[in-house]
Amino acid sequence: MVQYKRVLDTMAPYKPGKPIEETQREYGIETIVKLASNENPYGYSPLVAKWLKEEAHELALYPDANATNLREVVAKRYDVAPESLIFGNGSDELISIIARTFFEPGTHTVVPTPSFTQYVHNAKVEGADFTEVPLREDGHHDYEAMLQAIRPETRVVWICNPNNPTGTLLRSDELKAFIDQIDSRIFIVLDEAYVEYITDPDYVDTLNWLEEYDNLILLRTFSKAYGLASIRVGYGIGHERVIEQLNKVRNPFNNNTLAHTIAQIAIEDQSFIETCRTKNETERKRYEQFATQHGLHMYPSQTNFVLLETTRGANEVSEQLLRQGIIVRSGDLLGTPGYIRVTIGTKEQNDVFFEAYEQLLN
Ligand SMILES: Cc1ncc(COP(=O)(O)O)c(C=O)c1O
Repeated sequence: MVQYKRVLDTMAPYKPGKPIEETQREYGIETIVKLASNENPYGYSPLVAKWLKEEAHELALYPDANATNLREVVAKRYDVAPESLIFGNGSDELISIIARTFFEPGTHTVVPTPSFTQYVHNAKVEGADFTEVPLREDGHHDYEAMLQAIRPETRVVWICNPNNPTGTLLRSDELKAFIDQIDSRIFIVLDEAYVEYITDPDYVDTLNWLEEYDNLILLRTFSKAYGLASIRVGYGIGHERVIEQLNKVRNPFNNNTLAHTIAQIAIEDQSFIETCRTKNETERKRYEQFATQHGLHMYPSQTNFVLLETTRGANEVSEQLLRQGIIVRSGDLLGTPGYIRVTIGTKEQNDVFFEAYEQLLN
């Protein structure tokens, strides 16, 4: 028998939201409403669609390992040095690159919980020890407890803002005060996968913080508001010295040529993002009203998903919705039992959800 890392015995592969085709087959339903993976229900920029249709695509050659053109466009957009950027096959890959860069047996990391599960998953694979710090009751990170969890062996502190799966946004002044208290030898990951959906004026653009903290990286992605989850491009913005180390761990051709060009076109179309943000906010308010109307707890969300209370077991409710062709995520899988996570869809998709959920509640 081959001998795996022993920690794998305690782990399971990532369980994604159920794919549409699988649900159609399994339940014999033609029309499926997928509200499970926080994808953009409005698709992607029309400029990307036009390019895909009209241009010839280079596939025979290896992609540019430096992502030069995309790097330039993103650097210009954020007014940062091109060397302060790293691109990953989704921000998922950046999380694993960070884990490979900082962790080995004997090291330790601090993560909020419930939060994005890949932080702990990758720490485990690299043999690091970890402390999961429960969120406060209001869904915010528990700064005090996170600071107390830091040890001499701590290499990375993870922050997810807004947080998945609660959707909650941390107050900028409190977050900054927290970062201020973390030893500058500890690497801080600020995962902002949903940043484009924030409408709360309290949010301060964290790009400004990078000058102050050379131990901070921001993670962003083309998978959510840009509607490009399938092309797998995420990026990190951090200090050049850190990026240089991360680049030693990154596989050279981790993003393909199509993805580079698509991301480059997409980021130039900010009017698409603005439209999506506005539509999402309108629909998010309908979820707030729905929750209030039915006396269900829902965390205030600044993302394109909500965490909504269920009156029965979350697995059971998810399964019943699935039978009606609606895919949501059960909180039982996300560390939030008694809740379902619902991606905010189009008006029509949300109507379908509200009607079905109302029936279940009655
Ligand atoms: C908080 C957070 N970070 C990172 C990711 C990974 O996104 P991707 O790898 O598609 O960029 C997700 C995806 O759901 C997420 O919710």
